[in-house]
Amino acid sequence: MSKILVTGAGGFIGHHLVKSLKEQGHWVRGVDIKHPEYEPSPADEFLILDLRRWENCLTATKDVEYVYNLSADMGGMGFISSNHARILHNNILISTHMIEASRVNGVDRYLFTSSACVYPEYRQQEANIAPLKEEDAYPADPQDAYGWEKLVSERLCIHYHDEYGFNTRIVRFHNIYGPLGTWDGGREKAPAAICRKVAIAKLTGNPEVEIWGDGEQTRSFCYIDDCIVGMQKIMMSDYHLPLNLGTDRLVTINQLVDIVADIAGIKVIKKHVPGPQGVRGRNSDNTRIRQVLGWEPQISLEEGLRRTYEWIEDQVRQKLARESSKVSVSS
Ligand code: NAD
Ligand code: GDD
Repeated sequence: MSKILVTGAGGFIGHHLVKSLKEQGHWVRGVDIKHPEYEPSPADEFLILDLRRWENCLTATKDVEYVYNLSADMGGMGFISSNHARILHNNILISTHMIEASRVNGVDRYLFTSSACVYPEYRQQEANIAPLKEEDAYPADPQDAYGWEKLVSERLCIHYHDEYGFNTRIVRFHNIYGPLGTWDGGREKAPAAICRKVAIAKLTGNPEVEIWGDGEQTRSFCYIDDCIVGMQKIMMSDYHLPLNLGTDRLVTINQLVDIVADIAGIKVIKKHVPGPQGVRGRNSDNTRIRQVLGWEPQISLEEGLRRTYEWIEDQVRQKLARESSKVSVSS
């Protein structure tokens, strides 16, 4: 049994990670500025702390062996395509204080959650792009401030490793999705947004589904269970350089909508509308993770979306019921 800190434990991936670590019998401290939205955390201790502040990072990292640092001000394209100043400011403070506090408090291993958003825009201008290898991050030109912070904080990990002998790990997530993830409110990513829109179409009988852009932009998507397994394998490996964690199945957003509509069992009418689109195409090259871990994500997009859709349809049904009961009370 190890003593483990998970920051961002009130968020999507952090909450799933806490559940997995608890199932394995570890002692877990969760830290966030909020509790998980959809169910209580099973963490042994859950501290509400703002990790932009140095003294809070010292409190969070006290007496633990492993640190999974997932806290960040983040979201899908609807959030990170604007809010650059706030994202850069908040996330630089969190990442810089968290790694130093972990070192000062004698933590054994520290894992930083980076992003596919570190890759340069010039390699992601076509829908049918070559999968991105870890070394493709340089020469650097991430599209958004969110990606710049992730790239700088990756460097911080590498320099702490090389100059202080501090045991760091870096994972670059490629669009992670699944149940218990943000599905409305503006920070949701495409899989959750599309599941929500298809569920609304199904439950209201209006078949129109709005898609940002022409829907021919491409991504790869990785189911949460694979993300949780992969992240722990990376932590326990000896590899300290960045590793992609994603699938290498490239799909268009239009194809994503078709898969979700099939799962819902309805026909939808796609309505292409203006919206933030990010890069034109993005895929993960998994050569390095296969070499290092002898493993890569396993769960198919159809299976992952089926589990995600079921959960989101249920959330939408409850929300519609709440709204209709409010209307009948006030009318
Ligand atoms: P999330 O937004 O659900 O979780 C992040 C958590 O960090 C939130 O609960 C938030 O409240 C917390 N947080 C924000 N500011 C904080 C502060 N000042 N102090 C303490 N906690 C704070 O996002 P997620 O999808 O679970 O992402 C987890 C990590 O993985 C993040 O670092 C994110 O950048 C990275 N990542 C996620 C994806 C993805 O597809 N989900 C892709 C690439 C990278
Ligand atoms: N969010 C969202 N909502 N995206 C939509 C929608 C919608 O209703 N309709 C179409 N899209 C399109 C976006 O325009 C974009 O081209 C694509 O779907 C993917 O959008 P997101 O899932 O929001 O973001 P992303 O893949 O560009 O970036 C995400 O993944 C990164 C890691 O791979 C973000 O979550 C980043 O924060 C993350 O680091």
